[in-house]
Amino acid sequence: MSATRKLHIKSYGCQMNVYDSQRMTDMMAQAGFAETSSPEDADLIVLNTCHIREKAAEKVYSELGRMRKLKESAAEGGRKLVVAVAGCVAQAEGEEIIRRAPSVDLVLGPQVQEGCDKFCTFCVVPYTRGSEVSRPPAKIVGEVERLVDAGVREVTLIGQNVNAYHGEGDGGPWSLARLLHRLAGIPRLARLRYATSHPRDMNTDMGADLIASHRDLAALMPQLHLPVQSGSDRILAVMNRRHTRADYLDVIARLRDARPDMAFTSDFIVGYPGETEEDFRATLSIVTEVGYAGAFSFKYSPRPGTPAAERDDQVDEGVKVERLARLQAEIDRHQDAFNARCVGRTFEVLFEKPGRLPGQLVGRSPYLQPVHVMAPPSLIGEVAAVAVNAMAANSLFGTRERPAPGRIAVPEPASLET
Ligand code: SAH
Ligand code: SF4
Ligand code: F3S
Repeated sequence: MSATRKLHIKSYGCQMNVYDSQRMTDMMAQAGFAETSSPEDADLIVLNTCHIREKAAEKVYSELGRMRKLKESAAEGGRKLVVAVAGCVAQAEGEEIIRRAPSVDLVLGPQVQEGCDKFCTFCVVPYTRGSEVSRPPAKIVGEVERLVDAGVREVTLIGQNVNAYHGEGDGGPWSLARLLHRLAGIPRLARLRYATSHPRDMNTDMGADLIASHRDLAALMPQLHLPVQSGSDRILAVMNRRHTRADYLDVIARLRDARPDMAFTSDFIVGYPGETEEDFRATLSIVTEVGYAGAFSFKYSPRPGTPAAERDDQVDEGVKVERLARLQAEIDRHQDAFNARCVGRTFEVLFEKPGRLPGQLVGRSPYLQPVHVMAPPSLIGEVAAVAVNAMAANSLFGTRERPAPGRIAVPEPASLET
């Protein structure tokens, strides 16, 4: 008698990577696999890898060491455990994985998916993911309608450069703005987001329409992840980002004009080859100038096969460490200030799950901050107004302003690849 086989998938990468994991879970469910959160119980373990920085790939190799032990103990118990490596590391170094980790049974690259045509000089994505592909708008709309029917209230459209989306469908080309307008018309869909956007694609006609959508669509949340990477024009140029600091600040100003309560987040790289102290100070000052609500910052990590890795003016590790610490301090200062400014405001909160304390729920503000509120479990999946009255390190606390309408059962917000 054989019990249901169990599958454990671990995601290491971006939202595209997490989305692929969800799809693999769905596909494997049809093949009779039930998902398990503990690798010890699994018959099949999939590591869905990321290749964006060196550490990301190294993490996979050390995890594979642990997998070998799991395989051995499964074999002692008379079970066979299959280990598969999927995702961008698999794509980039399939054979190397088999050589370094013979316990791996299967190596799979990511499926045909939205890639990237931008070729920033530091980045592996155009090589691992291939070129940009936009899914047909009718497919996306259909998928969102099904999700909303199933009770989902918030959808995030994802892609490495989601604002470059150009689908072909009814009545000619579909920009991201047109798609968002269409989706915003779906009754019961409370919230729309999209990530990640490239600043360069905000500075086009399509970008202008997208900026206007932030003014016109209430469901479009007032938060945008718009990675700038560096505040120095010289570095932006050698990174092949194809926009200047002034272009970027202009986009921010236009978005704030369209939607005054807009908040911004970004990604930064410190210690790109040839980065001087003056270049780095320009990065610090753009953080101050924009006043980000949060940001991810990374030390530049040379990726084999990318142009920046070939340069002979690599920045010393010690300098990178020091710059990263200074940048993170500045980012934290602005993040804390942003959170502090939220105290006293009233937000629509989408409740997601029970909180740590009895009687408490945790939801998300329009800016994705976790908000802790005393509220009945029936509110999970509902949007309700909350008066924010306190903050902690990364979350807010508040009280309900008024009782919410009837309940709909809703799981986690969904992501959807474009
Ligand atoms: N498409 C998005 C980001 C994709 S990768 C964009 O263009 O903004 C996510 C982040 O990883 C990047 O924004 C960048 O900050 C970081 N990153 C990418 N390659 C890197 C590298 N070689 N070293 C350090 N950080 C890197
Ligand atoms: Fe990488 Fe640049 Fe493409 Fe972003 S836009 S995925 S950083 S090449
Ligand atoms: Fe990583 Fe591949 Fe995404 S390299 S960031 S998982 S596209």
